[in-house]
Amino acid sequence: MDGIKDKVILVTGAASGIGAEISNYLCREGAIVIASDLKKDDVQKRVDELNKQGGRAYSLSLDVTQENDWKEAMNFVRINFNRLDGLVNNAGIFFKAPIEETSLDAFNRVMKVNVSGVFLGVKYAISFFREQAKDNQKPTGSIVNLASLAGLLAIKDMGAYCASKAAVRNMTKSIAVECGNNGERIRINSINPGTIKTEMTIDGFGAEFFDEYEQDTLPIPFGEYGLPEDISPAVAFLLSEESEIITGAEITIDGGWSAGLTGVSL
Ligand SMILES: NC(=O)c1ccc[n+]([C@@H]2O[C@H](COP(=O)([O-])OP(=O)(O)OC[C@H]3O[C@@H](n4cnc5c(N)ncnc54)[C@H](O)[C@@H]3O)[C@@H](O)[C@H]2O)c1
Repeated sequence: MDGIKDKVILVTGAASGIGAEISNYLCREGAIVIASDLKKDDVQKRVDELNKQGGRAYSLSLDVTQENDWKEAMNFVRINFNRLDGLVNNAGIFFKAPIEETSLDAFNRVMKVNVSGVFLGVKYAISFFREQAKDNQKPTGSIVNLASLAGLLAIKDMGAYCASKAAVRNMTKSIAVECGNNGERIRINSINPGTIKTEMTIDGFGAEFFDEYEQDTLPIPFGEYGLPEDISPAVAFLLSEESEIITGAEITIDGGWSAGLTGVSL
């Protein structure tokens, strides 16, 4: 993918799962990757591995809920690269409980990480894109937000998480319209993964969830759950020059899960 080579991309939540794999894929495609996470040591280990394999990766401690961390992250980018081409707002937390068992604190925490964290990332990246635009040039840059199938479809006992991911989807579209209407080439799109095998879902559903399912009974046309490797090429495409006219869009990667009523013939 030529359109991603040498681009400076910041990835949040890069210490595990989908964010780690996105960082890995972007490095293989020749991008300069700033892999960030609140788990500082874990993300440093990932970065060491990426660099051993010939990648150009840098680690950064960034809690997406902390505005000051975003300011420091932008300073880090400015000092070390003096350029930012893309941001992947991947950091997120999962939460599952019936509504009456969901405390206000738990609800607010999900919103803070999954929605406010994305909001802050978008705000500071856009500001950076504007600042780096040369005189008479349109600001450019690409942001990819990790929403979810849970932001498209209702899922039992997941009201807080579903609400947070639906918010990410429409915030993405609204800001895409805002930047486009300003005459800027700042693009912002989202990805809706189905169920992907990562630490998040193993912790949330149990390890056996992925090992003990009957393909025939899954409501997924392709009959299987996904892996982080299924997500990263689409993220890279949305960050690259190959998608230069795509904004306010979303790519759902769910094996056909959300496309229809699998197994139902009327
Ligand atoms: N795994 C799935 O099935 C699935 C499906 C749809 C969407 N998603 C979304 O994809 C993203 C990645 O999920 P994953 O499955 O790889 O999860 P994961 O738990 O494996 O990884 C999430 C990473 O985010 C980091 N993180 C959490 N809170 C943070 C914060 N405040 N600041 C910075 N980093 C923080 C964690 O330390 C972790 O490294 C999330 O936004 C998730 O909601 C996942």
